[in-house]
Amino acid sequence: MKFFVDTAEIDAIAELNDLGLVDGVTTNPSLIMKSGRDIIEVTKEICALVDGPVSAEVAATEADEMIAEGRKLAEIADNIAVKVPLTWAGLKTCKTLSDEGQMVNVTLCFSPNQALLAAKAGATFISPFIGRLDDINLDGMDLIQDIRIIYDNYGFETQILAASARTVNHITECARIGADVVTAPPGVLQKLAAHPLTDAGLATFLADWAKTGQKIL
Ligand code: E4P
Repeated sequence: MKFFVDTAEIDAIAELNDLGLVDGVTTNPSLIMKSGRDIIEVTKEICALVDGPVSAEVAATEADEMIAEGRKLAEIADNIAVKVPLTWAGLKTCKTLSDEGQMVNVTLCFSPNQALLAAKAGATFISPFIGRLDDINLDGMDLIQDIRIIYDNYGFETQILAASARTVNHITECARIGADVVTAPPGVLQKLAAHPLTDAGLATFLADWAKTGQKIL
């Protein structure tokens, strides 16, 4: 499973990228707003930093304007994935841009039928939102499972980019189900390394090591 990092914060991306943990980056208008940066400038920096796909989201709602925005975003770098919402206009935009050879990430997916439409429109990635379904007392993981089954039934090549992943359990479950990619905030990716038994074990080793009076360097 590939890891994308869901942020527009350059320092956080760079730290994870140095560890080899970043297979791509996802941004959205809210994350650009949080960064306080210009979308073109910050996206250009991110694209230069990472080798994998970098999702940059259109802000228009009509297909013609979405397509124009998508083409402008695509000029930023070769590794741009134009992100479009899962609306009728977004699907038209997806079809047009993917026919032009552009990577497209269809976002704000909340149902298996929406995912089916995105795959038929040629999406490179479908982004089902786990956390936002959990927020309304549904199970976001059921959606990931349903899309996996449907895509496998018909051999769709659209990659399942599990989004709105907010917990380490979301990531484990995505890996179990076979999501192609999971995108999560830097803090959630960092938490994957944490385990209380690791901390307790290390504390014991360090205490015992101190008793030996030895030094390695
Ligand atoms: C994905 O592409 C979105 O940017 C993101 O995962 C949304 O996450 P949230 O629901 O925690 O805002």
